[in-house]
Amino acid sequence: MKSAFIVDLERASRTANIGIVLLCLAFGIAGHLISFYFHFLTVTFFLLVVLNTYWRHGQTSHALLANFGFLAQIRYLVESIGPEFRQYLFASDTEERPFNRLERAEVYRKAKGVDALEAFGSLLNFERREIKLRHSFYPVDKDQLEPFDVAVGASRSLATTYHIKRPIMISAMSYGALGENAVRALARGARLAGAVMNTGEGGTPKYHLMEGCDLIFQIGTAKFGVRTQDGGLDEDKLAAIAGKDQVKMIEIKLSQGAKPGKGGLLPKEKITPEIAELRGVPMDVDVISPAHHSECIDAESTVAFIGRVQRVSGLPTGIKFCLGRPDEFRALVQEMKRQDIIPDFITVDGAEGGTGAAPKSFMDDVGMPLFDALPIVHETLSEAGLRARLVLFASGKLINPGKQMTALSLGADALYSARGFLLALGCIQALQCNRNTCPVGITTHQKHLQKGLDIEAKARRVANYIEALHHDHVELLTAMGASSSRLLSEKNVYSPKRASTLPLAEERS
Ligand SMILES: Cc1cc2nc3c(=O)[nH]c(=O)nc-3n(C[C@H](O)[C@H](O)[C@H](O)COP(=O)(O)O)c2cc1C
Repeated sequence: MKSAFIVDLERASRTANIGIVLLCLAFGIAGHLISFYFHFLTVTFFLLVVLNTYWRHGQTSHALLANFGFLAQIRYLVESIGPEFRQYLFASDTEERPFNRLERAEVYRKAKGVDALEAFGSLLNFERREIKLRHSFYPVDKDQLEPFDVAVGASRSLATTYHIKRPIMISAMSYGALGENAVRALARGARLAGAVMNTGEGGTPKYHLMEGCDLIFQIGTAKFGVRTQDGGLDEDKLAAIAGKDQVKMIEIKLSQGAKPGKGGLLPKEKITPEIAELRGVPMDVDVISPAHHSECIDAESTVAFIGRVQRVSGLPTGIKFCLGRPDEFRALVQEMKRQDIIPDFITVDGAEGGTGAAPKSFMDDVGMPLFDALPIVHETLSEAGLRARLVLFASGKLINPGKQMTALSLGADALYSARGFLLALGCIQALQCNRNTCPVGITTHQKHLQKGLDIEAKARRVANYIEALHHDHVELLTAMGASSSRLLSEKNVYSPKRASTLPLAEERS
């Protein structure tokens, strides 16, 4: 039996399909008899009749269009603007993903340097029993706080040991994923605020270098910028990049949270001649990096590769990964001990991390979330006696101070954010990073879209965001009764899911 809705739709579409033919004829006659101007409508309806005939009889890919004609187009139209409608009109302040309006607004306010005070009470739902920070009965006075200073490379007594002075760093985002103006605004903002920025896996860091900030050069699995013909590591190219004054550390990317077990991906829509040249790739196909470094096929070879990059670069060198199997990590750590090659830092990227482009199944279903992975990495290193010999970085939706302090309590020494900084640049979460159509000019190479991203104005916002986060860290640290984030532990975090009073197995330094 047909439902009433189907009968109505059929009747409506039949009426509409005949109606546009009749209107076309009527306007034609009116144009002939009454006024020539009616022919504008005659032409419009004539084109609609031609299109409608094609949709109903000339195409086979859309069943709805073939069955109902132009009325079905209205459904496609409403569907296509649905996300915008929901975002602007219907979604509540705490509803959207990946970042809800409250979270985004906090970053916007910090970036604009606007007062962060709020009234009446938290808008969060406390019944959800989220992770909270534990304050102390005995807050520390601000003048007792140690300045933030994380030394990377110190345990190897490197002359190139780098001191991180800001708890938050700009996470890996390549020129390619981001447009030129976005990279320059981030780099300038990092310099203004004394923060360090990761280049991402996009090869020779041309625009990252332009603004004078300190950089972490990332070696992705495709080794853009430091690749030999056969996909191996070109030691001369690496030594040349590592020799640049601004390049302070090297990060070997093993995997990232949004697509662990899969290499980087740059859609062909975003490949300009300049990017093709910087990466040494063709322009007409998507660039898909290998799932792993050709040198890294097991724990032994991976540790040897870390040692090789440390030796060639002469810089503090670390690895980045999203945790999958804790037993594999444990084996990797044992191998580090056996070869006595310890990375100078480890970046733990949560499965909730962002990306310029990734398959949905990887974003949704692969990898361990940060707040589960971080304690495992921290405790595994502690048990192996290696925790004090390296520094832990963490990333994964750490855009506000509360989440950042949680990560510092669960074992991180310093933090990365990628999308927090995109929001500071003015990202409106249009979710088009892979299409080269970013409406605010961040993840696009189209000049007319980048025009709206003023490098100087946005660099100031990036710097404001870093300053405001630092300010909030200080406030939260004092409330938590710790004179340094080094002294934080799981004891400082309240989580109904986790054992909340675990002591740290080993001091960090
Ligand atoms: C536009 C964009 C580009 C990215 N490019 C890289 C990259 O080149 N290499 C990498 O290791 N991670 C890349 N990432 C992942 C981030 O560095 C980071 O690990 C992840 O987004 C988690 O941080 P977030 O939640 O603060 O965004 C990218 C993320 C975004 C949003």
